[in-house]
This record gives sequence, C-alpha cells and structure tokens, in this order.
Amino acid sequence: MKNKRTMMLPGPVDVSQHALLSSAQRMIGHRTKECEELIAEVTQGLKYVFQTEHDVLTLTCSGTGGLEASIANTLSRGDKVLSLCTGAFGERYATIAERYGIEVERINFEWGEAVDISKVEEKLEGTDQFKAILMTHNETSTGVINHPKPIGRLAQEHNLLLLVDAVSSLGGIELKVDDWKADIVVTSSQKALMSPPGVSLVSVSPKAFEAIESSDLPKFYWDFRRAKKFLVERPNQTPATPAISTLRALQEALREIRNEGLENVFKRHEVMTMAFRQAMEELGLELLVNDKVASKTVTAVKLPSKVKFERLKERLLKEYNVYITGSKGKLKGRVFRVGHMGNVSRDDILSTISALELVLKNEGLDIELGSGVKAAQQVFYKEGSN
Ligand SMILES: Cc1ncc(COP(=O)(O)O)c(C=O)c1O
Repeated sequence: MKNKRTMMLPGPVDVSQHALLSSAQRMIGHRTKECEELIAEVTQGLKYVFQTEHDVLTLTCSGTGGLEASIANTLSRGDKVLSLCTGAFGERYATIAERYGIEVERINFEWGEAVDISKVEEKLEGTDQFKAILMTHNETSTGVINHPKPIGRLAQEHNLLLLVDAVSSLGGIELKVDDWKADIVVTSSQKALMSPPGVSLVSVSPKAFEAIESSDLPKFYWDFRRAKKFLVERPNQTPATPAISTLRALQEALREIRNEGLENVFKRHEVMTMAFRQAMEELGLELLVNDKVASKTVTAVKLPSKVKFERLKERLLKEYNVYITGSKGKLKGRVFRVGHMGNVSRDDILSTISALELVLKNEGLDIELGSGVKAAQQVFYKEGSN
C-alpha cells in the first residue's frame, strides 16, 4: 500500500505495507513462546543493524525514554559528563543528565557545524574529572553528522564511557557500534528502522554494564539490570509488557533491511541525500550545512526571506500531500527540513522536489520549473539502479 502521502519528516517515517500488516496481527501474551520468538528475532535483527555483539535492549518508549534510561543506568551521584552539543538534541541529552543531578560540562558548537575533535581533545587533556561523553550521532535539528569513531578512540584513551544518541541515524547511516567503541547507543523504531513509534532500542557494552552495576541513580522501569536478566534468563522477555504491535512491525522492517543488505541501505540513503541536496542548490536555495558534515537522513534548507515556513508547509501538504517540517530553537522559522530516511525512494524525492518547485514559484521565487527535478534525475541516472 503506497498511500497518497509523501512522508518526508525526519520521523515518524512511512512504514511499509508488510510491516503495517504485521503490526495488525492478533494480540499475543507477552509471557508466551510466540512473544519470546518475536523478541529473539528482533534482537538478532537489531544486532545486525547495530553491527554489535553487545546486548541490545528493547524498551517501551520513544527515543527520549531510551536516552533518559541510558543516563539513569550508567551514571551515579557526583559524576560529571562531557556533553558535545551541536543542536537541539545534543542539548536535550545534556539536559536529561542535569535533571538526574549529574554535573554536565558542555562543548557548544555552532548549529550547522559538527563536533570539532580537537576541542574535545583539549577538554580531556590532563584531567580525569569526567565519567562519560554524551554525543549525538546525527543532529536532526540541523542535519549534521558527528562521527563517533574518533570520539570513541578518545573515550577509550581516557577510560570514559561513550553514550551515543543515534535516534535519527541508526539503520540509515553507518554506525559500527563495537569497532567504534560506543558503550551505549540509543535509537528508536520510528526513524531509519522504518517502524511505527513506540520502541527504543539500546545497545549496552560490557564496560557500560560494569558502570550499571554500581550506578546509584533511582530507576525502576528503566533498570537495565532487570532488562538484561529477563532477556537472558527468561529468555527473550521484557520486565514489563512490551509494545507487541510495534515489535511485529519492527520484525518485518528488520527483515526488509537484511534483505536489502546494510551496505545497500546506506548507499541508498547517500544517493537520496545527494539528489535532494543537488536539487536544492540548482533551485538557488541555500543548504544549512556543507557536504562534508551533511546528514544522510535529513537535510535542512534555509528559508528564502520571501517565504514563511508555515505557509510553505501548509501548501505542500494541502496541494501535494507532501509532509515536511521546520526546526527548533535558534533555527525555528529559519529553515525547513526534509527527512529522507527509512523506506524513502526515488519517487518520494522527485515528488518532493517537484512540489517544492511549484509552491516556491507560486510564492514568488524565481524558479525554473523542472530544474531541481532534473538535477535529482541526473544523480539517480549516474548512480544506476541503487
Ligand atoms: C537525534 C534525536 N534524538 C532524540 C530524539 C527524540 O526522539 P523521540 O521523539 O522518539 O523521543 C529525536 C527525535 O527526532 C532525534 O532526532
């Protein structure tokens, strides 16, 4: 079923017909063999996408719940963390830690720029005051990728935990959890994992489990020790009722990812990004971030001064059934964002560009109809059938 909507949000994303139908199956009990098999398969599929041998826990909540759980489980009273903030979601991770009474030192980068590793090196030089580094792999508010690998290396050198928010990247942008030494990686079902909202997935390294054993922050629902106990000893159960319907969809979506092959999935995201970015440039629109740090799952485009965001969004929706969004904080009203993650296909990209051309021209911009579409077509043509 390809309904008429062209969902170009950076989550929730369009869900395939197979995954939707899978979620519509009759309910099962969560202490049954059937449910254990469901969780076992989902966990294996997640390990493939996370590229990890670590435990991957399935939590019933959105991505923010997974982030909160990562803080509540790994840290203790009196701990201090270094938080790398490149936008609204980096800021959110830092704020969660503060709410738990953790001392947070931020390194703030300009919105639209990526983490500058030399600043992190400087901050860590000659000090052992930090317990962990918090980072956002894909800063969705700006469309910037921060590479975890060099930060993982630094975390290893300084014996720190590395906690990664990969909510809008995992499954769309490469993240080698084990190789890159990420102790905790948090994602959620409704983004590149192509499923409905409702489940957050968290990988936990053995080093993180050591910290979890001594963590004294209060938790019950979020307790990873209980989650691991149920996963291993029951086995493949969760301490409380899981989001069974979302897990059914996720099971199907993970099969789709495996069938396509992770490398091909990443390549497809790259091609979609390239096509969309080139089209925007061809239309004379300014991209918020440069190619080097550009996200492969979401692109932020500066709003031309003549155009009001709410009007653009409404017209795209009403006239062309295309869903886009704006941004937050300092970027509110200054950019529009287009998500290209999960099931996104060439026709989604082409329809979005075409609709943007029409609406922007109607709003008085000097747009040559078809020029953005042509730029995207050229990318697709050059990249062959991927
Ligand atoms: C990078 C990042 N972190 C966290 C979140 C919050 O996720 P949720 O809305 O699932 O709680 C989002 C949502 O867009 C995100 O993009």
